[in-house]
Amino acid sequence: MQGLLEGKVAVITGAGSGVGRAAIKLWAEHGAKVIAADINLPNAEESVKLAGAPQGQIKAVECNVADPDSVSAAVALAVETFGRLDIIYNNAGITVLPIPGVGMKKLVDLDHAEMRKVEEVNINGVIFGCQAAIRQFDKQAENGQGGAGVIVNTASVAGLTGYGGVLYGSTKGAVVAMTRTLAIEVAEKGIRVNSVCPAGMLTNYGGMNPEHEQKDKILEGMGKAHPLGKAIDPADTAGAAMFLASDLAGNITGVNLPVDGGLTAGKKVGG
Ligand SMILES: NC(=O)c1ccc[n+]([C@@H]2O[C@H](COP(=O)([O-])OP(=O)(O)OC[C@H]3O[C@@H](n4cnc5c(N)ncnc54)[C@H](O)[C@@H]3O)[C@@H](O)[C@H]2O)c1
Repeated sequence: MQGLLEGKVAVITGAGSGVGRAAIKLWAEHGAKVIAADINLPNAEESVKLAGAPQGQIKAVECNVADPDSVSAAVALAVETFGRLDIIYNNAGITVLPIPGVGMKKLVDLDHAEMRKVEEVNINGVIFGCQAAIRQFDKQAENGQGGAGVIVNTASVAGLTGYGGVLYGSTKGAVVAMTRTLAIEVAEKGIRVNSVCPAGMLTNYGGMNPEHEQKDKILEGMGKAHPLGKAIDPADTAGAAMFLASDLAGNITGVNLPVDGGLTAGKKVGG
């Protein structure tokens, strides 16, 4: 089978860990040339090593998505290295740390500085990624190189439901709305915009770590929250994002796709 992303050039943000790390490996196995962008360059470089792709197929770059110039530079690097841009996967995201034994911070306990930090990465970081990609797609269209690129954002079930805390949930709800509104705005150019909305995964997100000493217990607990009974794996989300980025999804835009084992479908009632 030919790779789903054969010949495509992608920028993936947050590539140094979790879903981003899984995505650069999977997408490269499916033929994509990838810029692995992360605020933590050594981690992005480690992801490139772990992906095991042929030399030169993936390039790591330091990128802070909260800085528009930094995101534009990552897109420029894709063009300089691989000649064009077909896909941006705005995957980088952060949250405030849960308080042990209490859970997510309540609205009344949030402080302005931490609100700004999470909003800058989770909302503005996605906007900057979309802007940089669309500007490049427009250039390609003007040059007769095809401008119908693809944007995949990362929202969360926290943007579709009341799970995840007020601050994080608000930012992911913004990504859900942005994905729909932008999809309509750029549809006439043939640009598609979708998001993935994962449920809980054991990554470095939220102060956890994939090698946590209670790993099995945590994964079991996550699984119990989903009708399918399994925790979500970062590769599940990377795969759903790859489908949305691929030509198989050529007529899909404005969709916020849950990757949640049925969590947002509801609970079984009755027998
Ligand atoms: N893990 C979960 O339970 C979960 C659930 C739903 C949604 N998500 C979302 O999935 C995405 C990936 O999260 P993950 O679980 O892989 O987390 P992770 O913490 O393992 O990875 C996030 C990566 O983003 C990078 N990053 C952070 N700030 C950045 C910035 N300003 N610029 C560039 N890179 C930055 C980090 O260095 C890290 O490598 C995030 O958007 C997150 O909100 C995660």
